[in-house]
Amino acid sequence: MGRCIGILTAGGDSPGLNAAIRAVGRALAQKDIYLLGFKDGFEGLAFDKCEYLDNSTFSGILTRGGTILGTSRHKPHKMPVGKKFIDMTGAIVENYHKHQLEGLICLGGGGTHKSALRLMKQGLNIITMPKTIDNDLAETDTSIGFDTATDIATHAIDSLHSTASSHNRIILVEVMGHRAGWLTLYSGIAGGADVILIPEVPYDIKYIAEAILRRNREGKKFSIVPVAEGAMSIDVAAKFDKLHKQKAEAKDKDAAEKISDKLAELDRLNSGATLRISQQLEEMTGLESRVTILGHLQRGGVPSAADRLLATRLGVECAQSIIEGKFGVMMSARGGNVIPVPIEDVAGKLKLVPADDILLNAARNSGISFGDC
Ligand code: F6P
Repeated sequence: MGRCIGILTAGGDSPGLNAAIRAVGRALAQKDIYLLGFKDGFEGLAFDKCEYLDNSTFSGILTRGGTILGTSRHKPHKMPVGKKFIDMTGAIVENYHKHQLEGLICLGGGGTHKSALRLMKQGLNIITMPKTIDNDLAETDTSIGFDTATDIATHAIDSLHSTASSHNRIILVEVMGHRAGWLTLYSGIAGGADVILIPEVPYDIKYIAEAILRRNREGKKFSIVPVAEGAMSIDVAAKFDKLHKQKAEAKDKDAAEKISDKLAELDRLNSGATLRISQQLEEMTGLESRVTILGHLQRGGVPSAADRLLATRLGVECAQSIIEGKFGVMMSARGGNVIPVPIEDVAGKLKLVPADDILLNAARNSGISFGDC
């Protein structure tokens, strides 16, 4: 066996992962570098579940959604074994060396990049590609899967228009994104939404009701309201801010952990906000309201052409970096280019919708309400 590189996909699946595996595998094969695929994310590396990938594996997968390698959210240092969580970092390092890997390709989002950095610190050569339908990874314009998910959510919003208008209803459509509102913002604008609610712009229910009643007075008897999973009221946002400040000022690790638990609890209480907003709006406007939760539909199906192209560009550049022996970077999409950025600059950071985002402001200026004024 000659030069060999490991590959895994971790975190939630995203359309376009197979296109990326295919691109990197085919480009490496040109240089006779083997690709060893680990199953189900970091779990495969921890328990040595793997198989060699060759050109026959890559055949026909460009258009397939999901990931041929399988995925999981399991972390190297907190791997579920029976009912316990075990630190499997040692086993991972051992398996990496056992297969005489030159490096490991990790395709993933925020959690994957944190795990990748941990493994780098154990001496593993890691290279990553950005994948998340949430588009919340730092240091890259976009990520594999975001375009497809935006298309799916946009088509759903398109379809909801006719039924909302036939029944003179408010329809709230819940879109994925616990922390970042990119998917809701992009699909909301593309789908012609009337109100858009994202975590970065806390809402006051009275402004949402006002925007809907204003439309009603203008003769538009229905409204479409995309709501990000993590959308929050100004009251909830104030509670989050307070806890985040307390965490930053925490005296020790124990105190910080206790506040993390409170943050998780607040997160849990806030989920389901879409249903509550719907009930509040019925009471405040006197209009009928319905909720559609898109859920995992947004991650399913075939990747869009844009995601196939992005995955192919990133995959081929990733292979080039491996051929040159350059690791420790995420292959990032910047403008029309693929730029390697240090994994340290990505891990643990979130890319949120900034207040001065061009599309956010275009939406505001075209009359879309964000429920904040
Ligand atoms: O991380 C991407 C994401 O799709 C989020 O938008 C969503 O909140 C979450 O995954 C759902 O995770 P799971 O598939 O584990 O339910």
